[in-house]
Amino acid sequence: MGGIHGVTTEDIMDWALEIAGQDTMPIDSGIHVRGDNIRRVLFGIDVAAPELQLGKDIGVDLVIAHHPPDALVNFPKIFERHVDLMVGAGIPEDRARGAIEPMTERWQDRFHSANYDHVVSVARLLNLPYMNIHNPLDELGRQRMAAAVAGIKASQPLQDVIAALNTLDEIKNAPIEPQVAVGSFDSPAGRVMVVHGAGTNGGYEIAREYFDHGIGTVVYIHLATDARLKLHNEARGNVIVVGHLPGDLVGIEPFAALMRRRGLDVIGFSGIA
Ligand SMILES: [Fe+2]
Ligand SMILES: [Fe+2]
Repeated sequence: MGGIHGVTTEDIMDWALEIAGQDTMPIDSGIHVRGDNIRRVLFGIDVAAPELQLGKDIGVDLVIAHHPPDALVNFPKIFERHVDLMVGAGIPEDRARGAIEPMTERWQDRFHSANYDHVVSVARLLNLPYMNIHNPLDELGRQRMAAAVAGIKASQPLQDVIAALNTLDEIKNAPIEPQVAVGSFDSPAGRVMVVHGAGTNGGYEIAREYFDHGIGTVVYIHLATDARLKLHNEARGNVIVVGHLPGDLVGIEPFAALMRRRGLDVIGFSGIA
């Protein structure tokens, strides 16, 4: 940090990798317009073209988004992290690869229809440094949530898993509460797996794969209604849904604090304090 260019966008990406314990930038994160001498930062979960103009209007040196812009057309490759998590939990690799196939196809379809140039072209024309940091912060959030529930025994009910998640301020202080999406508060948890930090939630297929391989409760940060109903009807295991913003903030807020400790003036918005 420091040097003749002050704090750079590359330094900030390195700090994110450092806090997550990663050594290379994941495919769902990127520096879209680089910059030097960064002092004031606008940091939000969702950034589109109007939010870049907002950053310009209030005179920041950099806008950081959490969610990736459509410019990151290789985004579906981040689902490999789901394979790593599943294999780590004892699921055979061929089963894990099969489970990510439907979501990989869905997201590939989405990127084929997306305007991958739109948001980044606005940042370029505004001449405004712009980056997004996704997986490193979700990985940090996964580690913190996994640590929070690590002491839960298989016989403990889901309400104890929720109480453990509520030891994290970002979850405790949120206006939405963790939800028992599948199961009930007094269902025994069994083995608990926090499934986060892999691009997006695992939907029906990945939860199903965990349930078939000894996991009793999957913790997601969000889950679509059709997948939730399907898992509810099959009743093979439990799902706790933390809530999208609180779940993301578990990894984001410690990083905002780190940037502030390192001297940046960080203005939070779009979910970030
Ligand atoms: Fe996230
Ligand atoms: Fe998110």
